[in-house]
Amino acid sequence: MLRPDAPALVLAPMEGVTDAPMRAVQGAGGAFTFAVSEFLRVAQVPLPRGVLLRHVPELRAGGRTPTGLPVQVQLLGGDPGLLAESAGVAAAAGAAAIDLNFGCPAPTVNRHDGGATLLRYPRRIRDIVAAVRAAVPAGVPVSAKLRLGWDRVDAIFENAEMAAAGGAAWVTVHARTRTQGYAPPVYWPLVGRVREQLNVPVVANGDIRTVADFRRCRDETGCRHFMLGRGAVADPRLAAGVAAELGLIAPPRVAAIDWPAEVRRLLAWTPAGADAGAVKRVKQWLRMAAAHGTFARFDAVKRAAGVAELLAALGEPAGPQRSPSAARSVNDFTPSAGHAFNDSTANSPVTVR
Ligand SMILES: Cc1cc2nc3c(=O)[nH]c(=O)nc-3n(C[C@H](O)[C@H](O)[C@H](O)COP(=O)(O)O)c2cc1C
Repeated sequence: MLRPDAPALVLAPMEGVTDAPMRAVQGAGGAFTFAVSEFLRVAQVPLPRGVLLRHVPELRAGGRTPTGLPVQVQLLGGDPGLLAESAGVAAAAGAAAIDLNFGCPAPTVNRHDGGATLLRYPRRIRDIVAAVRAAVPAGVPVSAKLRLGWDRVDAIFENAEMAAAGGAAWVTVHARTRTQGYAPPVYWPLVGRVREQLNVPVVANGDIRTVADFRRCRDETGCRHFMLGRGAVADPRLAAGVAAELGLIAPPRVAAIDWPAEVRRLLAWTPAGADAGAVKRVKQWLRMAAAHGTFARFDAVKRAAGVAELLAALGEPAGPQRSPSAARSVNDFTPSAGHAFNDSTANSPVTVR
């Protein structure tokens, strides 16, 4: 999926935002190399195949979005055995690569020994990566996504080393600590030092909001591999701009963002019957865009109760939302549980954010 010798642009996992319909939208431009699924939490029992297929419906279609973007499966948890078994389930279901989440800052997740909590136990990171590595076929790469540390930025050196020692094929670094949450600053130069230290590729992540940010991040990290999260969804032109800088696609024509058209695209990839979830997702999306400064009318959409109201608030007449071909190709997409994720402990959805 990610080759050391070729540049890559990765769509970040964002729980509640980059679900299957959004991944399809983001995949359409051809800018991203692959996407990482929202995290699937593993606690007490291995991930059931049905849960996996519900959240990563692309696995039913060769592991790609209907727009052709490969999707990597991300797992989160603290138990090497359960994560290994779950990775085996994912690989058997067709996952081409597994990512392990060592960065989630959500208190519920951290209280249950998942996400960024592991940053305090470097050897556990190694053991988890090694167990997952051993559980999947050699052709299925395992990667790790880390923050710099729990509360110390220099924890990244040992943690990244341990992830690589466990067999991570690449390491993604979100350049802030867990304590920082999403507050500035991001420490890109430290990502560069990790890149120099490791023998595997390092994917630089955090606060690439513009092409100018990308250039700074590239210069400060020396990386050839990058991950875009909020910036990519808040500004649908960003990924193409960055991909062109990386030589992945031809330079795009720069145009104004047509938000109603963007929202219609997401609705087109949303399976019938999943409108309520889609409206939530669109609001999350437009909230990010408003914070980013690329969408000015969030006040008008935030109270919209359904698709028709949402489109009206965007200034669009509520016409048909699904193109027949789009609807056909996403027939297998089970409605997302919105912000709920399966807690395999109880085998029922729990809200983790
Ligand atoms: C709403 C939201 C949900 C996220 N969910 C995940 C997740 O499921 N797994 C993960 O590894 N990171 C998750 N992240 C972190 C992002 O993948 C990324 O590391 C972070 O947003 C920094 O990149 P950015 O500044 O380009 O957004 C999430 C971030 C946000 C804002």
